[in-house]
Amino acid sequence: MENGQFLRNLWYFALEGRKLRKGRLQTKEVLGEKIAFGRNPDGKPFALKDNCPHRGVPLSEGTFDGQTIRCCYHGWEFDCTGACQKIPALADGALELKRIKISSYPCKELNGAIWVYMQDGKYPDHDPEVRFPDLMVPADKRLLHIDTVRIPAGMDEAVIGLIDPAHVTFVHQSWFWRTAKSARLKQKQFEPVGLGFKMVRHKPSANSKGYSMFKGQTSTEITFQLPGHRLEHIQVGETDTILSITLLTPINERLTELNHFAYSSLNFTKYIYWPLRKLGKVFIGQDVRVFEKLSKGLQNEPKQMLLGDPDAQARWYFDLKKKWHLCIEQKTQFSNPLKPQMLSWIT
Ligand code: FES
Ligand SMILES: [Fe+2]
Repeated sequence: MENGQFLRNLWYFALEGRKLRKGRLQTKEVLGEKIAFGRNPDGKPFALKDNCPHRGVPLSEGTFDGQTIRCCYHGWEFDCTGACQKIPALADGALELKRIKISSYPCKELNGAIWVYMQDGKYPDHDPEVRFPDLMVPADKRLLHIDTVRIPAGMDEAVIGLIDPAHVTFVHQSWFWRTAKSARLKQKQFEPVGLGFKMVRHKPSANSKGYSMFKGQTSTEITFQLPGHRLEHIQVGETDTILSITLLTPINERLTELNHFAYSSLNFTKYIYWPLRKLGKVFIGQDVRVFEKLSKGLQNEPKQMLLGDPDAQARWYFDLKKKWHLCIEQKTQFSNPLKPQMLSWIT
């Protein structure tokens, strides 16, 4: 499998908002870059390259009082935008200060999730806002956190694992969901959308017991978009929705973080949250275990194949990725390369 460079000029989920407390710097690796996250005096999140511009010591090793970051080595001070404020050892430092700035990343908080925009150094895009992902959650509502796990695999393997229908029968077998014996032929219509594709709205599979807990008409639509966002939008009755949101963030070439969230407009969220959370954790645990096995296999550098309809979405992912890289390099508008298509498989 090609382990292409990371996709840039896109937003990645970084942290749960509630975990980033005021007056603290939190460091996290995203796309192989160490980033220091914090909150400015207004409470807005910021993201800075976690290196002091003087000699490179991590800023997160220094101090932060909610306003000023002070490096632990020679005490240089910075504000939350990364601008240098003070160089204690410099007798006449006023002129130097203006030139010194820590590189910063666009950073944004919505629905209780903090996102970071990973710019392409060579081909920057000056309007990050345009690509901010739409998770279909009202702006004033919070996502419910289900689980965070780290998958011992690169982003490509992690994405393919997320959109691969054929593993469900063998990896996610359980009495309360479905069993291998209940597998049957599925036909699903797909359409291109945004930076990805969607399985168009349909009734849930008759062999998925999980859905039967919702009374009334239910239908689902599953969307996948670059860089690695999967949204399962369940419509319950006329007006209510339940969303299951999976966001993948590459930590580095060999490690990918999966964050799973839920949102529901239903006021009995507090009753379905715990069973939903339990179910989510069971599924993710099953995926992580199979990823551990896969990573053992990959050490042997086997050839891999993407075969037929069950692997079509994986091939689409690579097509989308290739197109995205091309658009960035040629500075052209992204146009989705996919066509509507019906896929069939047995699960
Ligand atoms: S390395 Fe940070 S002040 Fe010198
Ligand atoms: Fe899975």
